[in-house]
Amino acid sequence: MEFGKLLKVNTVDNTVEIEFENQQVIVQVITDEIIRVLVPFWKKDYQSIAIEGQPSLPCDFEVIEDEGAVQIKTPAVILNMWDDFGFVFTDKYRDEILTSYNGQRRFENTLSDEAVGLLEAEGHHIQGGNHQNYKVQQIFRLNEGERFYGMGDKTGFLNKRGYAYENWNSDIPQIHHENMPALYKSIPFVIGKGPGYTYGLFFDNTFHSYMDMGKESNEYFYYGADDGNLDMYFMTGECIADVIEHYTYLTGRAPLPQLWTLGYHQCRWGYESENDIRTVAKLMRQHKIPCESVQYDIDYMEGFRVFTWDEKEYGPKGKLISELAEDGFKAVCIIDPGVKVDKGYFMYDQGVKKDYFAHDSQDKIYVNEVWPGDSVYPDFGREEVRQWWADSHKKLVDMGMQGIWNDMNEPASFNGPLPLDVKFHIGDRLTNHAEVHNVYGHFMSMATHEGMAEITGKRPLVITRACYAGTQKYSAVWTGDNQSVWSHLQMLIPQLCNLGMSGFTIAGTDIGGFGGDTNPELLMRWIQAACFCTFFRNHCAKGQKLQEPWQFGENVVDVYRKYVELHYRFLPYIYDLLFESQITGLPVMRPLVLHYENDENTFNLNNEFLVGENMLVAPVVEQGVTKRMVYLPDGNWINYWTKEKFSGKKHIIVDAPIDVLPIFIKEGSIIPMYEPVQYVGEKPYDTLKLLVAGDSAWGSHYQDNGEDFEYIEGEYNLYSFTYENGNLDTAMLHQGYQKYTSIEVEKL
Ligand code: GLC
Repeated sequence: MEFGKLLKVNTVDNTVEIEFENQQVIVQVITDEIIRVLVPFWKKDYQSIAIEGQPSLPCDFEVIEDEGAVQIKTPAVILNMWDDFGFVFTDKYRDEILTSYNGQRRFENTLSDEAVGLLEAEGHHIQGGNHQNYKVQQIFRLNEGERFYGMGDKTGFLNKRGYAYENWNSDIPQIHHENMPALYKSIPFVIGKGPGYTYGLFFDNTFHSYMDMGKESNEYFYYGADDGNLDMYFMTGECIADVIEHYTYLTGRAPLPQLWTLGYHQCRWGYESENDIRTVAKLMRQHKIPCESVQYDIDYMEGFRVFTWDEKEYGPKGKLISELAEDGFKAVCIIDPGVKVDKGYFMYDQGVKKDYFAHDSQDKIYVNEVWPGDSVYPDFGREEVRQWWADSHKKLVDMGMQGIWNDMNEPASFNGPLPLDVKFHIGDRLTNHAEVHNVYGHFMSMATHEGMAEITGKRPLVITRACYAGTQKYSAVWTGDNQSVWSHLQMLIPQLCNLGMSGFTIAGTDIGGFGGDTNPELLMRWIQAACFCTFFRNHCAKGQKLQEPWQFGENVVDVYRKYVELHYRFLPYIYDLLFESQITGLPVMRPLVLHYENDENTFNLNNEFLVGENMLVAPVVEQGVTKRMVYLPDGNWINYWTKEKFSGKKHIIVDAPIDVLPIFIKEGSIIPMYEPVQYVGEKPYDTLKLLVAGDSAWGSHYQDNGEDFEYIEGEYNLYSFTYENGNLDTAMLHQGYQKYTSIEVEKL
């Protein structure tokens, strides 16, 4: 579409309306650093789902009109716009950060419809059906050396340059290969990084969308969507961390979780009875592998009816859970959205009576198939439906459930995809599946989070498979059905780093791999690579080799225990980072490029990562490897195991026999640690250990009760530690909670 000449500019408050001959464009100054550009092809007053409340802050900005052009200037960003919706974002230091592409997309491989049909019949995926322009589309100039990060859970390497992806939440049980267009999550946020500049772009549109990051051409990248608005938020920043801070300012940050939720969890889709769960729990303790929960996958329900409990296989309601609780086990269960079609089943009856399920185009309740057979889909976009769903958790909490794992909420369906015209709502507005699909998991997580917070009074543990931008406020995520293959272990690092840079600070993969059979070496390397994950769970599918560590012999148990214990040792460091993340939005697991952005050795570094700023982890992710090359960035780094010190900005070779995960601590830092326990709550954490790296070091530490919301009222401690010439100096930056009885120093 041609926008035509820029005719008129009208500024009201923080909104600048720009009239082109054929289209209006609305620019909103959200903060000094964030500018929204809305092309309301669809709805001018679109109410964002990702962004809640009114994020705009007062800002002094100027609007300068010149014939056929307008300049909008905040203290941090300058946007110039001219005829035909040409634009450039810049700032006072640079001439160009992000520019519209002045040209058309080039389709080199246009195929006939017949050819597309044949290819698709054989199972090939042709992006967008065929190379074509999308209904909503924006092309941007691509600069040499420009790289991209973020974009959620997409497969492939850390740097997204050269990939093309789609946002359409998809249940993919097949192997997740490198150039998969979409997985379970839609987070249309990308961080652009070029020589001397950094920016973020968030495309707030929940319809099926497309992001080609230089695959089609080396001259441009583009965003496309099947419907909705072009609704983009441009964020500037001096560095990647700034951009993440702005993005999470907009879409929200993960709230502080309960401490135990960060511990180890054991799961299998295939623990089919009370006895299975008890046996695994007993063996976890017998082998002295710390563990918080043996999770309840779908078999605990009566015929997969959500919010029920199968007393035949799992015993009287509450009994198993309360008995295991005596040994420190918390209960976490799966809840899928699909409600079994079954007259007499309370969820189905209530939902039908109140008209809470989605309808088809003929206005009949829409039915598809998931685990329980014929099932119906709650219309989660409606507040009333979410409230009903939230309240339904009371049944589970009464049985003793403490955490909820939301699955199949893409939404998945076994009898073909849900037609795009299935009727759903967003608030009171009637809409359809095409708009709601990518936010279905978001709304479900929101309901679950609110229900669990209200009923338990504790910080809820919600884990979701499907989500949209902003779901981090309500739920942690896991990366879905990976497989027991080395390429998936390798992918864990870029995938979790990119999820982390997309706001999801609490995330993990199924340790050992969900599908396929794991093996001793893979499992040992997996527990090492996952050791600093904020969601730390071994999970696998029915029919696959049993995956608890003891299935593989004593040696595996020993190595496995060593790393689960290590995770518990570093729990206070992980918790500290999550506390900070509420202010900065920064994740726990970070790619090196986040802190060493000008060091080109970090630009495409896929096989090591930082934990916070001060710990570098370089797992072995290749079969048969017992030594590996590690890149150490600027600074001095101390090997956690050997205490050997290395100066950075170079590659080194480290020994990594099967029981060694190479870890380096940055000189000058202090890392808080605890003694490992069998589960959080086994003993009070009254001793804090400080790992002091170097003769002169600094660190901080956050402490609270790890459970409820009292910290918001000030019930917490914030320590600042300075270590100099053998002396530790402790200052309390905030004191509102019972202090440790002792603080010990371990010098590295
Ligand atoms: C889905 C989930 C998996 C779960 C299974 C059965 O495949 O991704 O984690 O075990 O369903 O509920």
